[in-house]
Amino acid sequence: MAPQDALLGWDEDTTAEAYAAFTRAHPMYGSTSCDLARRAHLADSRLVVDLCGGTGATAEAILALAPADARVISLDNAPAMQRIGRRTLADPRLSWVTAPAEELAQHAPAGGVDAVVCNSAIWKTNISVVFAAVRRVLQPGGRFVFNVGGGFANVIHPDQQTGRIGPSLNTLIRQVAARDYGYTPPPVADRNGPKLPLETITEQLAATGLALVDTEVTAQHSTMAEKKAWLSIPVFARPDGDFTHAQRMDILAKAYAQTSPDAPTVTSWLVVVAEQPEGRP
Ligand SMILES: C[S@@+](CC[C@H](N)C(=O)[O-])C[C@H]1O[C@@H](n2cnc3c(N)ncnc32)[C@H](O)[C@@H]1O
Repeated sequence: MAPQDALLGWDEDTTAEAYAAFTRAHPMYGSTSCDLARRAHLADSRLVVDLCGGTGATAEAILALAPADARVISLDNAPAMQRIGRRTLADPRLSWVTAPAEELAQHAPAGGVDAVVCNSAIWKTNISVVFAAVRRVLQPGGRFVFNVGGGFANVIHPDQQTGRIGPSLNTLIRQVAARDYGYTPPPVADRNGPKLPLETITEQLAATGLALVDTEVTAQHSTMAEKKAWLSIPVFARPDGDFTHAQRMDILAKAYAQTSPDAPTVTSWLVVVAEQPEGRP
C-alpha cells in the first residue's frame, strides 16, 4: 500500500497552501487562466462559471475581464483549496461552491450562464458528464473554454521540442530515484500515455451538442526554478510509487542541483474553445 503522503490529493491543506503559494510566486496558472478568460469573450457577460476553480487564480482572471456587475461562481470539490480562495480573494461578485464539476447543472441556472472556463483540470473530470452539464447551463452563443496539459493531450508545441537544453527535471528525478532509492520507472507508454487527446474531446463535444470553435497548442515559457517549485507541490511531486514526500523532496533537490535555475523550460497546452449553438431550445 502506498504511504499516506503518496495519497495526498487536492483536499489537503499542505497541497492547497503550496499550490496557492506557487500561483502567487510564479506566473503559470495566472497566465493560463488569463489566456482562457480572454478566449471566453466576457465583455458582456453577467454570469461566468470558473469550473474546478481551486484557490481562485482563474476566477481572478475572469473578474478582471468581466463587467463590473458580472457574477462569478467558482466551483471545486476540494474544500481545502477553496478555504484559501475564500481567505485571499474576497470579492463580492464571487461565490464559492464546493461540489464536483460533474454536478455543475445543480449549481447554476439552466441556460443562464454566459461562459464556463476551466483551467488545468478538465482531464481530471468525467468529461461526458461535465460536457453535458455545461451544455445545460450555457446560454446560446455562450463559450466553454478549457485547456489540457500537453502530456495528457499528447501534444507538444514546437518550442518545447527545440527549446530544451539537457535532460528535463523529470528525467533527472527518475535517474536520482533509481540511483539512490532503487526506483524502477514505469514503461514510457504508461508514464506519458495520452489521457484526453483532441479526438476524444471532439467526439465528446459533438455527442453533447456543443460546437467546437477553435483549438490551439500553446507554449508556456518558464525556468527550471519554476518547474522545481511546481514539483514541490505535494500533489505534483514525483516519482510515483512508494515514496514519502520528504524522500521526493530529497530526490528533487539532488536532481535540481544538476540543472541551472535560469535554464529555460517549455510546457505545452492544448486549448479548446467550444460554444453553445445559437437557437438552442
Ligand atoms: C491544477 S488545479 C487548477 C485550479 C484553478 N483552475 C487554477 O488555474 O489555479 C485543479 C483543480 O481541479 C479540482 N478538481 C479536480 N477534479 C475535480 C472535479 N471532478 N470536480 C471539481 N473540481 C475538481 C481540484 O480540486 C483542483 O482544485
